Amino acid sequence: MSDAVTLMKQEVGRAAANQVQSGSIVGLGTGSTTAFAIQFIGERLQSGELKDIRGIPTSFQAIVLARKYGIPLVGLDEVDHVDVAIDGADEVDPQKNLIKGGGAAHTQEKIVDSLAAKFIVVVDSGKLSDKLGTTFLLPVEVIPMGVAPVMRAIAKMGGQPDLRMGVKKAGPVVSDNGNLIVDVKFDGGIDHPAELEKTLNNIPGVVENGIFAGVADEVLIGEVIDSKASVRSM
Ligand code: 5RP
Repeated sequence: MSDAVTLMKQEVGRAAANQVQSGSIVGLGTGSTTAFAIQFIGERLQSGELKDIRGIPTSFQAIVLARKYGIPLVGLDEVDHVDVAIDGADEVDPQKNLIKGGGAAHTQEKIVDSLAAKFIVVVDSGKLSDKLGTTFLLPVEVIPMGVAPVMRAIAKMGGQPDLRMGVKKAGPVVSDNGNLIVDVKFDGGIDHPAELEKTLNNIPGVVENGIFAGVADEVLIGEVIDSKASVRSM
């Protein structure tokens, strides 16, 4: 990751953390950008600027980071609402529809992010795209025994599915939920994200796909202009 990208992620993470108010239940997303937001929420808590925060993690990574930065965690069985969720994205279109799942965490992320009264997306400017599916493959989480028929069904719909393989691990990536991830290419991108989101989730064996249509409330975009980092809201 270049220094400029790291700086953008850091500043956008800080801007989102600054929106969190004392007494809130906060959805803690997954990925390298959200990691900065979790760090800054933790720092605000430790300094006494924020009080009485409870975090809802969306992944094993979020649990580890929340513990590292001293954010108390609760489960969805212990609360009846989520005030705000902060999470990254892999691709964002002009309507604030997202592709997520680059970290294979989109199922838990969608549960938490869509429950939040306010869902803030944190991205660097490289994630913006005119049409979903043109810069990032669409992740689909699948029950292991259903992978072959799901891949055939996706191919029939015109997608090109590819089972995600591990890095520094032999064999496929296994999600936090014990499932596999199929990354799908759609030639020409995704024409109707909200429709495709539902259609894919209707294939038996699919747990959840990475299209988040109409879920984001605010997209914070980190940019570097003339070597200076800034954050704008979409
Ligand atoms: C994980 C996700 C992440 O939020 C997404 O991949 C963005 O990550 P990063 O901030 O590291 O670019 O959806 O499943």
